Amino acid sequence: MENQGFQFPKGFFGAEAKGFGGKFSEPGEARASVKNFPGVRLGGERQPKAGHFPKGFLWGSATSAHQVEGNNRNDWTEWEHFNAKRLTLNAKSKNWPDYILKNYPSPLQEENYISGRACDHYNRFREDFDIAKSLGHNAHRFSIEWSRIEPEEGRWDEKEIKHYREVLCSLRERGMEPFVTLWHWTNPVWFAERGGWLCKNAPFIFARFCKKAVECFPDVKYWITMNEPEAFPRHGYLLKDRPPARGEIISMFRALRNLARAHKAAYLAMKEFNSALFIGYSESSVFFEPFNRMPHNILAFKLLRWWRNNPFFCRMSHDSDFIGLQFYFHSRVRIHPKSQWWFQYNENKKVSDFGWEIYPEGIYRVLKDLKKHNKPIFITENGLADARDIYREKFIKEHLRWMHKAISEGVDVRGYFHWSLLDNFEWQQGFWPRFGLVEIDYKTQERRIRQSAYEYAKIVKANAIDL
Ligand code: BGC
Repeated sequence: MENQGFQFPKGFFGAEAKGFGGKFSEPGEARASVKNFPGVRLGGERQPKAGHFPKGFLWGSATSAHQVEGNNRNDWTEWEHFNAKRLTLNAKSKNWPDYILKNYPSPLQEENYISGRACDHYNRFREDFDIAKSLGHNAHRFSIEWSRIEPEEGRWDEKEIKHYREVLCSLRERGMEPFVTLWHWTNPVWFAERGGWLCKNAPFIFARFCKKAVECFPDVKYWITMNEPEAFPRHGYLLKDRPPARGEIISMFRALRNLARAHKAAYLAMKEFNSALFIGYSESSVFFEPFNRMPHNILAFKLLRWWRNNPFFCRMSHDSDFIGLQFYFHSRVRIHPKSQWWFQYNENKKVSDFGWEIYPEGIYRVLKDLKKHNKPIFITENGLADARDIYREKFIKEHLRWMHKAISEGVDVRGYFHWSLLDNFEWQQGFWPRFGLVEIDYKTQERRIRQSAYEYAKIVKANAIDL
């Protein structure tokens, strides 16, 4: 193992290794049953042949604590209160389509930028899991809110631990395999006040929390230490549009290094407790391609690809049992003043409410590239903001066809989690982007299953898709 300066001595965390309390299916034992994949041909016709997914494939959707639970208290809630006014004012200078403005809260309302009660999932998780089960999901990804479990440094909150036990239990009762994320961008206030991810001790502090989590929830098999560790410092220290929203570029690198160390420390500590745990992390991988063969475009493409996809995957995937892929983006690299941010020149034939290009083939390209790590892969996020639900069905089907093609060509994909089960609090954008298979009425907390969710359910229940 590469020495990154943080080695915890054996027994450092003191706990005994324990076995699982639950029963686990072994997903992905078999490869896709269609050997000669008829192909999703670029611009060509698709042959109507059923494409099966591997036996035991895990199907579900994902959420994260801060985005759905409601009533959290962490570094994000503090940031929201200081920034809601400014974000509302900024939104007023933009043009918004009516279909966005008609929903509550709209981007022009301050409530949009305060997570507050969110989806009240903390109290309604059973109802939400009933919906997921009715849609055939056999797995579910969610995150444990660190600030609830450890509200003060070193003090564990038994009431909150019990809450998450109930969450896990209700997933098991419904036959859904839990995938638990330990850090989805939010930090306890005390941790942020100690310098957050710039603090020298951060890897140790985080690994201690992760170790506590596996001790408290020993029947969870699948753990995701971190969600997109690359995004947090880029937004927090470089773009400064998310907490801690300060620092310089050097802070971004320091935080990145600490996050990588924290993943490794957590991995080792959790494995020491139980070596049979299946531990990974999730990272967003962009499908980059150069616009043409001009040297400056090729160079920029290589640089961007290296930055966004490689440093972390290589370092952290080494200390992981699987890779969690989040796929959202395609980027055609063309250095030009007319390009978006000077480098991205996409065709944007179809875009989501967020303006993100819909480019399903990208998931295939990225999966093929990830094969080199020789680790099982779970798609831990893939989805779009689509308040009218006009693109989602096609989006899901096309991505799954390309994913199937990758599987049939030998990429070891073992599960797919759509982002997201519910509409939710989309960070600095607030509530207006609608990513849910299930629509939330934020006034009444009523849940309405979108048509696309039923279409996804058909694929899930058949464990197959028409190619
Ligand atoms: C994040 C989610 C977020 C989604 C859509 C992912 O990168 O993990 O928290 O809601 O993107 O922006």
